[in-house]
Amino acid sequence: SESELGVGKPYVAVIGGSGLYDPGIFEEPVEVQLHTPYGLPSDNVIIGRVKGEWVAFLPRHGRGHRYPPHKIPYRANIWALKALGARVILSISAVGSLRQDYAPGDFVVPDQFVDMTKNREYTFYDGPRVCHVQIGLEPFSNDLRRLIIESASKYNKTHDSGCYVCIEGPRFSTKAESRIWRDVYGCDIIGMTLVPEVNLARELGMCYALLAVITDYDIWVPHQPVTAELVEKTMGEKLDLAKRVMTEVIPRIPKDVHLKCQETLKNACV
Ligand code: ADE
Repeated sequence: SESELGVGKPYVAVIGGSGLYDPGIFEEPVEVQLHTPYGLPSDNVIIGRVKGEWVAFLPRHGRGHRYPPHKIPYRANIWALKALGARVILSISAVGSLRQDYAPGDFVVPDQFVDMTKNREYTFYDGPRVCHVQIGLEPFSNDLRRLIIESASKYNKTHDSGCYVCIEGPRFSTKAESRIWRDVYGCDIIGMTLVPEVNLARELGMCYALLAVITDYDIWVPHQPVTAELVEKTMGEKLDLAKRVMTEVIPRIPKDVHLKCQETLKNACV
């Protein structure tokens, strides 16, 4: 069924990271501006069709990269996508690698994360309703991960698991910090935007999965420390592949996949 905007209800939403400001994979794109109880999202949401399926797209940093990671209106973004009807979020992000065998240019589909952010809006439940979501066993939907891994491995070196440490930023880590993320916390990749996106999605009963594009070795290779320029450049080289993966995955997502992601909400509120 289509609304007066001439667009249907998108079951899947794509959130694009650095370098991805335009989905470029949509037929008949329409732009909508949404107001939420949490203010405006990072940008207008673009709704269009991918192989016949209505899909929503939101550039995480806004077009022109206007929002740094710690200023992204995460709650407005997730709220807006849910309000449009989305029950699945596919995210694309640039990440650094904390290990040799996860090389720049590779994809990673992480299965765990560690939150080292410091000052963000982490929840829709600020009281008087108090809820604690259990996201520990499966922070990323395994159903979605499987589909992404299956498709991505055909086109690019793809690691089928990994722990993502989310730092506050916007600065990159010191070598001492990076050593802690790797050797003490056991993390494999590093970024600045996963939290609170992933947990806010869960609070609204949405499934979430990430296609992470490795853009750098953080500070582990001599004479090759991460820079914003390097991140954008490597990301740029892999964007077409990432979009191709999304185009292939979207029509394969079962329309009831979100039911499983909602299960952990059942006993969440006190
Ligand atoms: N995003 C891409 N590379 C990164 C790194 N090395 N640290 C934090 N965020 C990143």
